[in-house]
Amino acid sequence: MLLSYAACTKVPRMLIARTLPDLRAACASLRATYGGLAFVPTMGALHDGHRALVRAAVASGAPAVTSIFVNPLQFGANEDLSRYPRDEAGDLATLDASGCALVWLPDVATMYPAGEATTISLTGPAERWEGDARPGHFRGVATVCAKLFGQVRPDRAYFGEKDWQQLQVIKRMVADLLLPLEIVGIETVREPDGLAMSSRNRFLNAADRATAPLLNRVLRETANALIAGGAAEPLLEAGRQALSEAGFVVDYLALVDGPSLVPIETASPTARLIATARLGGVRLLDNVPMG
Ligand code: PAF
Repeated sequence: MLLSYAACTKVPRMLIARTLPDLRAACASLRATYGGLAFVPTMGALHDGHRALVRAAVASGAPAVTSIFVNPLQFGANEDLSRYPRDEAGDLATLDASGCALVWLPDVATMYPAGEATTISLTGPAERWEGDARPGHFRGVATVCAKLFGQVRPDRAYFGEKDWQQLQVIKRMVADLLLPLEIVGIETVREPDGLAMSSRNRFLNAADRATAPLLNRVLRETANALIAGGAAEPLLEAGRQALSEAGFVVDYLALVDGPSLVPIETASPTARLIATARLGGVRLLDNVPMG
């Protein structure tokens, strides 16, 4: 009979794999004992949002595997790759305390072998919004996730809804490439004042940190007005205006069809209100459901 990992989390200690052979051996052994794997891909600098993903993975009953890899392919030339926060010791302690079974810490040479010539090309939900603001970003995200899925071979992988477009891109890729895993979206974890948790929040100065929760407030108020039947464009424009007046540089605030990210005019339960705005050079992403 196969064991449920959640029932046995006190028995094994967390394993750490730094090479592909070690990862494969650890995954094979966990799979043989417990029957399946639940996977949480991350770039480290873990916060409560990541903890919620790991908790959901552990709660599934399968051993949770978490990867930490700051993926150069998803950063543009003038983006923040070099200053992306890194805290391996802190992250390992967090994962151990969260009941993670195995941590995968690949290096760049393992993920991107010399001479590699293959990336994932995307259309559909990868177009517009972050796709326009960060050309090549989703190609990098999808490519690294496809590689991680191939290495870990999980039954389920967990992604935060905060990066709504990323979640839809990954779901579409998994469906289109017929990959044998389920993608599970987990609700955004917020600070008490509503700010969505993000590894980049630490770069906000005190004044911008105090202003930042307005992004979520404007999204919620605009969503309520849309659900009450208000016309979309004037409400969206009023939201953009309120954010600009508070000091945000608004990249977009849009009503979209949730899965396809296509802009729409009318609220519906599957619609999503999405926004990205910058404060002091820090890009803040957020979104809210419409139903
Ligand atoms: O959301 C993230 O942290 C990253 O985009 C991911 C999914 C780990 C891929 O590098």
